[in-house]
Amino acid sequence: MKLESGGLGASSMADGSSRGIGPIILLGSPGAGKGTQAKRIAERYGIPQISTGDLLRDNVQRHTPLGLQAKDVMARGELVPDELIYDMVAQRLRQVDCDPGFVLDGFPRTPAQAGWLDAFLENEFFDNRDRPGRCTPIVIRIDVDYNQLLHRLTGRRTCLANGHIYNVYLQPPRVPDTCDLDGSRLVTRDDDRDEVIRERLTAYEVQTKPVAEYYERQGRLVSVNGDLPVDEVTELIRLVIEGHRAARADSF
Ligand code: AP5
Repeated sequence: MKLESGGLGASSMADGSSRGIGPIILLGSPGAGKGTQAKRIAERYGIPQISTGDLLRDNVQRHTPLGLQAKDVMARGELVPDELIYDMVAQRLRQVDCDPGFVLDGFPRTPAQAGWLDAFLENEFFDNRDRPGRCTPIVIRIDVDYNQLLHRLTGRRTCLANGHIYNVYLQPPRVPDTCDLDGSRLVTRDDDRDEVIRERLTAYEVQTKPVAEYYERQGRLVSVNGDLPVDEVTELIRLVIEGHRAARADSF
């Protein structure tokens, strides 16, 4: 479904309560701007951003058993096996800060993960009728031109302290290599090397694109033009979210 087409009525997976924002799922290829936009959504609606990439990198850094298993897979640009992801995501979604809703960035990434998430929400998240985020997930795909993606990934820098995202070509920091917001050092991600970027884009084409089809078949997918400047993409996403909220309110 395209944003311009209107008709954003949510399907009936849960009761459509308007008290919380509920789950928001951001889809899109590596470099599409999921992390950039997820941070803004999280801040605007006061919900946590849950990035499976960030959670995995944290595990790698702490040398946890999961991190040890994921490290080489991530360095090759491949997807970490589904079974390793489920526990990590379930543990995070069970935390109380997710109750009003959350924004998922980088999950689900295979149709199996999408099916797992639907089952998890139905069995664990929506089981509590008082949970404010008990709403059908809003699924938004950010579409970006392939050549633009390469530019975004090779130019990306991330701050060490809080993961704020910059781009040396497109969104440079005011002081080189320094985060505008917290002054910490900006670094290049290990998997933002040319040969790994190509593997990640291939993994997306083969394994993750069908996730959008999964949601499209259910009439739950809205795409936005991610080639636009960051603020304009943010506005498109805000309109999608507000459209869903209005549709939920109307259904009462
Ligand atoms: P993950 O960390 O999820 O990486 P990814 O999906 O490859 O996405 P990125 O973080 O690279 O891009 P993004 O869309 O967030 O873009 P960003 O906002 O940074 O995953 C890493 C790895 O972990 C995977 O390869 C896999 O191994 C593993 N993994 C993670 N989740 C998994 C799962 N569920 N299952 C299995 N394995 C999993 O923006 C990119 C750049 O563009 C930035 O420099 C930004 O400043 C710039 N930019 C953003 N928007 C704009 C704009 N509108 N205009 C101009 N510049 C922009």
